[in-house]
Amino acid sequence: MTILPEWIAVDDYLNNLLVPTDDVLEHILAESQAADIPAMNVSPNQGKFLQLMVQICGARTVLEIGTLTGYSAIWMARALPPDGRLITLEFEAAYAALARQHFERAGLTDKILVREGNAVETLPQLAEEQTGPFDMIFVDADKPNNPTYFEWSLKLSRPGTLIILDNVVRRGEVINPRSDDPRVQGTQRVLAMIAAEPRVSATALQLVGSKGYDGFALIRVQ
Ligand code: DHB
Ligand code: MG
Repeated sequence: MTILPEWIAVDDYLNNLLVPTDDVLEHILAESQAADIPAMNVSPNQGKFLQLMVQICGARTVLEIGTLTGYSAIWMARALPPDGRLITLEFEAAYAALARQHFERAGLTDKILVREGNAVETLPQLAEEQTGPFDMIFVDADKPNNPTYFEWSLKLSRPGTLIILDNVVRRGEVINPRSDDPRVQGTQRVLAMIAAEPRVSATALQLVGSKGYDGFALIRVQ
């Protein structure tokens, strides 16, 4: 993947100025590299962006679809009020186990609940249990299921809920109508659904940086 050196240098510059980090977050990034965990975590300034969104929304309940090893969840959970809760869904048992360790280390076990399993199954369970509605939802799991994740996110929302969807640009592949990559197709389908959905107002932003060239969609439930 093309990552221009200046994208990394500017991310470093901005992060040094604006995004103080700490041992737990540094540990997660170092461990990901050392343990060959795919570098699918958000970057530090994206993590801080998610944290600011939690604060700006005044969110008390956050749902995350796709924990990986918990980097973004820690950023978001730290902005929750004392009675706030974040539920994060993870398919890979090994990642969920690491995430639990990290939440412990971050002192966030009372705020974060990890639900292990296929989110296609755990999302209907959450609805069944009447968990929610959530104030903010971050969708960052396997991309072919993005349409399903968006449908359930809507069901678990209320008017005013902010849904953020990661990886909507994929190095520009999102505009390739002949892409045979199921991850790109999942993203193209979900963007078409969002466009046709009268209950939401949305935009999407291209991003470059240490994670390459990708983007976020921001969706407000009306
Ligand atoms: C991939 C997934 C992500 O969530 C991400 O942020 C970057 C890459 C991937 O599946 O390749
Ligand atoms: Mg992502």
